[in-house]
Amino acid sequence: MELTKEEERILAGEEGEARQQAMRLLVALGRIFGAKRMIRVRSAQISGVSYRTIGDAGLEFLEDFARAGARASIRATLNPCGMDLRRWRRMGVPPEFAEKQLRIARAFKRMGIELTWTCTPYYASNRPRFGQSLAWAESSAVAFANSVLGARTNREGGPAALASAVVGRTPLYGLHLDSEREPTHSIRMGFKPSNDLEYNLLGYFLGKSLGSAIPLISGLGRPGLDDLKYLGASAAASGGIALFHVEGVTPEAKRGRFDGRGLEALGIGKEDLIAVKDALSSSRDFDWVLLGCPHLSLAELGAIAGLVRGKRLRKRLICFTSRAVRAEASRRGYIRAIERAGGLVACDTCMVVSPLEAMGIDGAYTNSCKAAHYMPSLSGAEAALRSLRDCVHVAIQAGP
Ligand code: F3S
Repeated sequence: MELTKEEERILAGEEGEARQQAMRLLVALGRIFGAKRMIRVRSAQISGVSYRTIGDAGLEFLEDFARAGARASIRATLNPCGMDLRRWRRMGVPPEFAEKQLRIARAFKRMGIELTWTCTPYYASNRPRFGQSLAWAESSAVAFANSVLGARTNREGGPAALASAVVGRTPLYGLHLDSEREPTHSIRMGFKPSNDLEYNLLGYFLGKSLGSAIPLISGLGRPGLDDLKYLGASAAASGGIALFHVEGVTPEAKRGRFDGRGLEALGIGKEDLIAVKDALSSSRDFDWVLLGCPHLSLAELGAIAGLVRGKRLRKRLICFTSRAVRAEASRRGYIRAIERAGGLVACDTCMVVSPLEAMGIDGAYTNSCKAAHYMPSLSGAEAALRSLRDCVHVAIQAGP
């Protein structure tokens, strides 16, 4: 790999141990993927920040790295951690867990990383522009940034994104290259998804069917940003999709740039989504409704507030979002409406990375296929899939 003089100096340890460690990791990654050089990145989104998923070994690594002088040299934001850092007691998180999670937060703070704790940084303050190079690790945010915003990032691991935050670079390979962003499969929709759950199921079906290919989807109509958020998150969870194109909608597929000719074709009907739902969704009734995987947008919180305003919930509802979105939702009265009805709007965390079993949650209604995919293995909890609207109705009426 060809390195600049400055990169050589960092690699030789002339700018400190932490920058050297970071550069070593990125050079090793570049060699594995045949990158010829490094490129500068505008921002890093770091995953692997919940004590739930990284445990003591991860905590110690982060503290050592911070002690060794690791400091962010570019804008760097964080994925959700294992609890709402202010309302963790109200969530039922055990104090021993909270103490470790707070140590992780202190290590990141020392490194100068923004304590955003969200997987939708693009709804908060970190919204990349078309063509910008990034080093993002959260798979749902990677899919959104590449596909919906037209920015460029590989699906980084947490340590690689942290290394990029420190040295401001990533190896040039994969989705940073024009040639790697062309669609590989043509997807023909036999119907238009009608709600958030159907976009989730569609994404999950695509990931399962295509692995990490790049679909060009036609016949989808005019999906909203949240629809595309769910599609990408589910496709990244069931497969490894990091980029999808929607004909006439996503920036690289506008104006007929790709025509789908010569690509392997796949038709999708309603029955495909029904099969996904049957395989993924529990038929049990649960006491909990968990929404916000990926984190809820302001529009979604507004919709939930509208549905529960003036009502009394009969099931426990937690809505997960970012601090930035919660603050704006609070100004608009959405939080008061949801919490007066008996719900909780938590931030900094989510249903997948918080310790559900320790919180007494063995299953929940949700609209997220990504959550349904991960909850059983991470917390032993099941998910019953419904649209967001139906989840809220279940919370109000207490029926399945
Ligand atoms: Fe986000 Fe947690 Fe889901 S990080 S995408 S809410 S698993």
